[in-house]
Amino acid sequence: MNSLRVPRQRLHAGGPEFSRLAWGVWRAQRGEETSSPSKLAAFVDRCVEIGITSFDLADIYGGYEIEGLFGAALKARAAGRRGIEIVSKFGVCNVGPARPGNRVKHYDASRAHIVATVENSLKAIGTDHLDLLLVHRPDFLAPAEETAGALEALVAAGKVRAVGVSNHAPHQVSLLQSKLSLPIVTNQIELSILARAPLLDGSLAHAQETGAAPMIWSPLGGGRLFDEADAATAPVREALREVGARHGTDDIAAVAIAWLLALPSRPVPVLGSTRFERLRALAASCRIDLDRQDWYRILASAQGKLP
Ligand SMILES: NC(=O)c1ccc[n+]([C@@H]2O[C@H](COP(=O)([O-])OP(=O)(O)OC[C@H]3O[C@@H](n4cnc5c(N)ncnc54)[C@H](OP(=O)(O)O)[C@@H]3O)[C@@H](O)[C@H]2O)c1
Repeated sequence: MNSLRVPRQRLHAGGPEFSRLAWGVWRAQRGEETSSPSKLAAFVDRCVEIGITSFDLADIYGGYEIEGLFGAALKARAAGRRGIEIVSKFGVCNVGPARPGNRVKHYDASRAHIVATVENSLKAIGTDHLDLLLVHRPDFLAPAEETAGALEALVAAGKVRAVGVSNHAPHQVSLLQSKLSLPIVTNQIELSILARAPLLDGSLAHAQETGAAPMIWSPLGGGRLFDEADAATAPVREALREVGARHGTDDIAAVAIAWLLALPSRPVPVLGSTRFERLRALAASCRIDLDRQDWYRILASAQGKLP
């Protein structure tokens, strides 16, 4: 099955090598194939077999329990932690039984919170290092020097191999980068044919400028793309079908991912499906080369006319 293997790329010249498609662990507790450690271990193995080796987590996912589930799955894997890249995030503080001290939802990119969160993540996942640590959301109260200093100390201690951000505006990425001696290797942002803000808000242009490939969350609109009852998204499905037919596929999900892969900023879509056969089908997106007119046909279907 060599032909189906997902290719690899460096996120940044000074950053880690990831699979071109990553898998997001966010929905794992709710997936029939991913909800227990043994099922998840088998799922991870199957991902690795087709070349999806990069796994996206966050401390808060699943009511602060996803990292523990993923860690238990790694223990159940014969290969353990070998052959995969682990991403996690800190900085969003949710209200709930797992964090009784949080009165309100807030963001925290202070030194103390970063260090405590990463120690927890390493313990929950059962690993001595994260391949990539992301600032989940910008914290308006954290001085950039403080966040940068904590990130550098974690890398120096070998607990984190590379650092990045998520949901940051270009100027927020630049501010943090100006205080960091390490490269910010990605900005993980929401982007899909149904969520196109980064095309115009400077995020993708900035990613190209810095050479930091963006990671893309909800690349299929969180599943909204497939809601046949939603008349507003029907023209997009029609365009994806039409373009897919030109490329010999009727899988609109694979065409929607190929639409992201065509961008020159080299995005890494973080796939959220909990069904392995869907991931296998999406691996084919790496072989669909949309030409300029295919790409703009799909863009125009989402907004009537080009920006
Ligand atoms: N940085 C951030 O702030 C942030 C925010 C949100 C998410 N994320 C990350 O992004 C990852 C992906 O987000 P997402 O789950 O919203 O991504 P997505 O791939 O856009 O959506 C996945 C959802 O679409 C459904 N789906 C329905 N038909 C499908 C098809 N034909 N192919 C594929 N999926 C289909 C899946 O259901 P089935 O499971 O039944 O296939 C699943 O519920 C998360 O796991 C998380 O790691 C990051």
